[in-house]
Amino acid sequence: MSRAPLPLSLPRALLVAVTALLGSAQAAQTPAEAAVTQRVEALLHRMTLDEKIGQLTQLGAGTPGPNKETTDDLIRAGKAGSVLWTINSADIERMQRVAVKESRLGIPLLFGFDVIHGYKNVFPVPLGMAATWDPALVERAQAMAAKESWVSGVNWTFSPMVDIARDARWGRIVEGAGEDTFLGIAMARAQVLGFQGPKLGTPERVLASVKHFAAYGAADGGRDYDSVYVPEVQLRNVYLPPFQAAIDAGSGTVMSAYMTLNDVPASGNAWLLRDLLRQEMGFKGFVISDAWAVHSLRVHGYASDEVDAAARGLRGGVSMDMGSNTYLKHLPGLVKAGKLPIKVVDDMVREVLTVKVQMGLFERPYGDPARKDAVLNDPAHRAATRVAAQKSIVLLRNEGGALPLKAGLKRIAVIGPLADSAEDIKGSWTLEAAGAAVSVLEGVRARWPQATVDFVRGGDMQRAYPLPWDAEQGKPAPSLMPAAEMAAEQARAVQAAQQAEAVVMVLGERANMSGEAASTSDLRLGGNQQALLEAVVATGKPVVLVLLNGRPLDISWAAEHVPAIVEAWFPGTEGGNAIADVLSGAVNPGGKLPVSWPRSTGHAPVYYNHNRTHADETDPKFTSRYANLTSKPLYPFGFGLSYTSFRYSDMKLDRAAIPSGGRLQVSVTVENTGAVAGDEVVQLYVHQRSGSAARPVRELKGFQRVTLAAGAKQTLSFTLGPDELKFWSPVTRRWGVEPGRFDVWAGGDSGATLHGEFAVQAK
Ligand code: BGC
Repeated sequence: MSRAPLPLSLPRALLVAVTALLGSAQAAQTPAEAAVTQRVEALLHRMTLDEKIGQLTQLGAGTPGPNKETTDDLIRAGKAGSVLWTINSADIERMQRVAVKESRLGIPLLFGFDVIHGYKNVFPVPLGMAATWDPALVERAQAMAAKESWVSGVNWTFSPMVDIARDARWGRIVEGAGEDTFLGIAMARAQVLGFQGPKLGTPERVLASVKHFAAYGAADGGRDYDSVYVPEVQLRNVYLPPFQAAIDAGSGTVMSAYMTLNDVPASGNAWLLRDLLRQEMGFKGFVISDAWAVHSLRVHGYASDEVDAAARGLRGGVSMDMGSNTYLKHLPGLVKAGKLPIKVVDDMVREVLTVKVQMGLFERPYGDPARKDAVLNDPAHRAATRVAAQKSIVLLRNEGGALPLKAGLKRIAVIGPLADSAEDIKGSWTLEAAGAAVSVLEGVRARWPQATVDFVRGGDMQRAYPLPWDAEQGKPAPSLMPAAEMAAEQARAVQAAQQAEAVVMVLGERANMSGEAASTSDLRLGGNQQALLEAVVATGKPVVLVLLNGRPLDISWAAEHVPAIVEAWFPGTEGGNAIADVLSGAVNPGGKLPVSWPRSTGHAPVYYNHNRTHADETDPKFTSRYANLTSKPLYPFGFGLSYTSFRYSDMKLDRAAIPSGGRLQVSVTVENTGAVAGDEVVQLYVHQRSGSAARPVRELKGFQRVTLAAGAKQTLSFTLGPDELKFWSPVTRRWGVEPGRFDVWAGGDSGATLHGEFAVQAK
């Protein structure tokens, strides 16, 4: 492995001077931190203005520079700190060689890509990973993704996305951990540890980027990129804690969001990125803008022109400009004209170099091409995707023991436009490097080798939403099958169902129907899927509905008429096998919903941890609700069935009262009362009855996924202390545990009924 020329040739006298200059800040450093600082200062001292701004620039690979330079030319001139969206290992190695060997200072590049749920071996989409409620599994998965990514040369992932999403219309709900802050914290932390290891510089890991700072998931109307209006109380209590968890776990970078937050663009918002993120939340890495977001400051009607956008981005706290070259073009002029102090630039360069030094990039600038094949084809990685997919599956309905399907089935109909898709099953944010996946059809065929498996597509749905400019560019609109063909398909599906002993219907969304720029105003099943489902169910055959989707869909009809419903999300490489494992009973599903399930599009947003607001206790008409629909979700947050059943008992609190700042233990016994082993996610919810501000009706404050043999029981213990009981009060304007009475519930979902109570007393 080649080594970069190390920028350590500063004379000792200068080092001493630098050390003195840094003064008390450095005095508080450990020797290891001081060594990093010295190395960074030494390097900074040797850099020209252009080289400094280069470190603040992430080039779009192949995008010509401001003067039509090639990417390699810019790298050679030291005008790049990072390169975006290159997945080809040979290209990465070449560019890194240019940076390390041919640029004046030999500062290695970061290669950034969205390794979101796997590199070659694809794990379930993040919403599915959250449905495992298994942070240890999530951490292992991201460590594998990191290793595959690292050997291939991609040393920086734009993940995890920790945006809380309460609105199923928002397409990017698929990329996060769902609606809950506490679950979001656990998933944020697990992913950062998985990607980076216990600290930056852990071998074979990559740099993480927690995103999108902040509150991007609260987009108006669920429309991607739309304005966000989130009051400070909600920002602090709901949206920021997963970011704090990622920062505390050491995330080396944070990605700023695209949209305006309370009218100020997040990517040029000094309060957000400097005061809050760096000063208050203690973030020590660097901030990357979202793609072209610095340029967008002008589009927002915030910056007056591109030059102003560059200044506002940097002053606003974005250290590195992703893709738009706005810094590259305009920061040198601003500094030379005296409009931007060099110190503002230097501080940002320090941040970028510090991360590069900490992650060992100077010592290990390249991936490991010689081991790439072995790592990407490691059977343990593929096996892990199957286990993760199994654990992510949520059984939503199982009337009359419709599932598991019998081993001896002779004839099975597999129906639906997604049933044979080995592409959609991988979900959005799947890289070119992703390996082939197993479709549901293949999974069923492999699991029932003796059976005749008839496959009928049955119809179609839109591949993507029609965009006006597709038509303008003469592209055919992404259309459905012609109506006559669709009708014929549907008729064939009905016929296949009639001949079968069991029917597996695979419906939902194409992979590109959720994700970025894929918000929707309609959560119903697309195309003819609903009609197809109704027609097949009308045959009277036992139907199992398998959903592949990145968000809750309107399945209110199915919830009443289809005996079994299996939520499989987009389960990844081994998805088809994992689904067949669950359908056959080889695996007992134990995933739980990380979102509340709306009954219809108009029901969104619906989330469990809302406040109880005005209610006339004598007349249920006067309470928060729709006149035509219950406010209760179709399936509650935390919900998921099993092939066995669980009973909760014996809630014990070790104290009836604690002082503010104190701790208590809550224990609860869970028993597998069925005939087979199964997983249960034991959940603990808390409610504070009164305080300086109203508190949510309940909030998740503990969970543990356990496996219990038939008849086995286990007593689990949870701690409730300041971390679980504190909140940020809009009245006192600080975090605190306020005195008052608290309810606590334990159970298998957010409707848990086993109840206890305790008090927090004033100190
Ligand atoms: C997305 C980010 C992503 C970036 C780079 C943007 O459009 O919003 O989530 O990391 O592109 O691919």
